[in-house]
Amino acid sequence: MELQTNVIYCGDCLTKLKDIPNECIDLIYIDPPFSSNRNYVAFWQEQEKRHFEDRFENVQAYIDYMKPRLRELYRVLKPSGSFYYHCDWHASHYIKMLLDSDYLFGYSNFRNEIIWKRAFSHNDPKKYGRLHDTLLFYTKSNKWTWNRIIIPYTQDYIEKYYRYTDKDGKKFLSRSLTAPGGRGPRYEWKGITRNWRVTRENMEELERQGKIFYTKNNIPRLKQYSEDIKGSPLQSIWIDILPVVTWSGEGLGYPTQKPVELLERIITASSNNGDMVLDAFCGCGTTVVAAQRLNRRWIGIDISPTACRVIANRLEKEFYIKGNRDFHILDMPKTVDELRQYPAFEFQNWAINALGGIPSKVKVRDSGIDGKLYPIEDIQKSKKEGMDLFGTIDNYIPIQVKRTDQVGRPDIDNFETAMKRDKRTKGIFVGFSFSRDAEKEVRRIQRDEGLEIECITVDKIIERQLNGRFK
Ligand SMILES: C[S@@+](CC[C@H](N)C(=O)[O-])C[C@H]1O[C@@H](n2cnc3c(N)ncnc32)[C@H](O)[C@@H]1O
Repeated sequence: MELQTNVIYCGDCLTKLKDIPNECIDLIYIDPPFSSNRNYVAFWQEQEKRHFEDRFENVQAYIDYMKPRLRELYRVLKPSGSFYYHCDWHASHYIKMLLDSDYLFGYSNFRNEIIWKRAFSHNDPKKYGRLHDTLLFYTKSNKWTWNRIIIPYTQDYIEKYYRYTDKDGKKFLSRSLTAPGGRGPRYEWKGITRNWRVTRENMEELERQGKIFYTKNNIPRLKQYSEDIKGSPLQSIWIDILPVVTWSGEGLGYPTQKPVELLERIITASSNNGDMVLDAFCGCGTTVVAAQRLNRRWIGIDISPTACRVIANRLEKEFYIKGNRDFHILDMPKTVDELRQYPAFEFQNWAINALGGIPSKVKVRDSGIDGKLYPIEDIQKSKKEGMDLFGTIDNYIPIQVKRTDQVGRPDIDNFETAMKRDKRTKGIFVGFSFSRDAEKEVRRIQRDEGLEIECITVDKIIERQLNGRFK
């Protein structure tokens, strides 16, 4: 098996991971949808709504679902590799037990439970606000990549702990010079005999440098200047990384989108330049963006074709790199049967994108126009001039999509109304198949109203895609 890198696989990670050879990944981060009964409403574009049902009825079903996927992830991880599982209160304890088992990493390879404060506050009635996520950090063996991260002290901390000021105005805190537990060399220093942390020679040198501070009882202590200390090693409670909020520049409007800073931290600590990073539930691609920024190679997997398209756009926009050249989106579904399984929103986006159109921003329930097809020159012009195609360019063909067989005459009539309302003379209707009545109605509308409706079936789109007639 050859390993392809800088790729996004579209599909269930259980099957896609089987294309990845054993023990070739340095770092895995996953953030799967949790075991909850909520419906997530994602806003991919300004007001475009998307629901994805949370499929897990209860924790056991969730664990059963994750188990074989985790096993595959474990298989592809290098012996020196690290693994992070991002979860919340719904299932974190059950997941920990699963990961602790010998079937996966084992208790001895558990390294940290990281608490990430992901919200400012949470109004949970009659209980404490649940505002943190949990990241379970494991390694595959007892030798793993580790780059210590130092967090600078805050001004508050320095003011609180660096309470003393030297003659020359430098702030310092005093540290004990007494060795703990009777260890360290024993000698007398200025009338006090005990075990010290430093040798007599070092004590003399510190004295010469003016780095010893004496208490009221004449006990020597070491002066530690704030300017000599860069900070402290990163601990397991992370409160300094803010969540992605809809109004932040980073936000793509996806409710479970994680901040790139969080992933940059994990990737920095647990991998090196050129290492291979994998996210098997990569959503809108935060991990791959962070990996790309930090010069790592990466693989992303997501079951949602819309998510895969969002990632491609995100990469092209942020790094000025091109899909099909600098990175690849693989396995976007192609068969009619696969497309039948799509949720309505996904199907609609697929059809409109496959035709080279642009999905409508506002989804008013079946307003009759799901997307618009613009002449290529207008798209290029709008990109160059930074214009919004919608509303500013009038030269478009409306697209209506129905995820059904036997699209009927009433559907065609509704589309005719929408076309007239928008003063269009040409339109495209996509469905799995069209009834005879619908086809008759299309001919009547052309004859009597002068409106041209092109009915395109899904298998025709696929055929044209394969022949390269659509982008
Ligand atoms: C919580 S989101 C991940 C968000 C991501 N960390 C980010 O910052 O954008 C979970 C993602 O897992 C995807 N997903 C769900 N089941 C999957 C599966 N079996 N294989 C691959 N992806 C899956 C969903 O489509 C969703 O995009």
